[in-house]
Amino acid sequence: MSENPARFDVAHLARCELLSPKPQETEDFFTRFLGMYVTKREGQSVYLRGYEDPYQWSLKITESAQAGMGHAALRTSSPEALERRARSLQDGNVETSWHEDEFGYGKTLAYHTADGHDFALLWEAEKYLAPSELQSKILSRPSKKPLQGIPVKRIDHLNLMASDVTSVKNEFERHLGFRTTERVVDGEVEIGAWMSSNLLGHEVACMRDMTGGRGKLHHLAFYYGTGQHNVDAAEMFRDYDIQIEAGPDTHGITQGQFLYVFEPGGNRIELFGEAGYLHLDPDAQTKTWDMAEIDTGLAVGGAKLPWETYFTYGTPSPLSLDRHIEQFAHFGPGAEAPVADELAGASA
Ligand SMILES: [Fe+2]
Ligand SMILES: [Fe+2]
Repeated sequence: MSENPARFDVAHLARCELLSPKPQETEDFFTRFLGMYVTKREGQSVYLRGYEDPYQWSLKITESAQAGMGHAALRTSSPEALERRARSLQDGNVETSWHEDEFGYGKTLAYHTADGHDFALLWEAEKYLAPSELQSKILSRPSKKPLQGIPVKRIDHLNLMASDVTSVKNEFERHLGFRTTERVVDGEVEIGAWMSSNLLGHEVACMRDMTGGRGKLHHLAFYYGTGQHNVDAAEMFRDYDIQIEAGPDTHGITQGQFLYVFEPGGNRIELFGEAGYLHLDPDAQTKTWDMAEIDTGLAVGGAKLPWETYFTYGTPSPLSLDRHIEQFAHFGPGAEAPVADELAGASA
């Protein structure tokens, strides 16, 4: 991997907006089960943060007819880095626009990824300052760990579903200075890429939409840092009827410990136990997994990531989650995937 002059211009994933057709239930999921704090309500949106998120919010839930990702924003490492990344996108003929319209954040550069996801870059972010009753005695912690559910510390990463993984990956490498730490290929076709702008294994990943869809969200992940929390969270979700998709187990890809669930609005959420290995080696090569070794890549402990959801369901989805599971029940590796939009049309 040759040196990328933009490396480290992007610091981390700052925030993500989730759309939900069941906003109250989605909010309850993040506050009651995952212990996130509400910091503001405005119109059809509510803003939340984990107890170690540094800014006013990392998650915005907005009422909408369909589940999905409203937008996501990465914070750069300086104002100059933001200008450099903006110039790179603009020189690459990516359409961009400047906005300053989000609570707790300043000037923001909006654009669409190569697959159509609503994305943004920003530098100006207001730090969260806890009122005295929420101040932690642990100085590196912006607020107390709440006594509610099994609280997540912070937002971790985003996984985008795309019709063309390579285009999205190339854009993050070229314009944002990300390096691809790991990828999955099926023959000549890239079907997954894990990309990092810091020492973590990934802040953004991209996986191929097997139904041919564009611009969907696969999942948004929140960080625990402890594998046992994923086991405890699975018990909690089981008892309180939150649909678990897979896990707890450990991915071979990134070595991250995962638990996937569907929040009541229909978006897939990942709880991240240990974050996996850190990328300290400055010239590490991209690790490429092929289909022969994919079982280890997906889950070291043998957990099955279901074909009827994990490889085919993203949001927005033309089918409800239950209908999607019915329609994709017989889809598997090597089989021709049904086209979700056509199924939705046929059942309308
Ligand atoms: Fe993930
Ligand atoms: Fe994962």
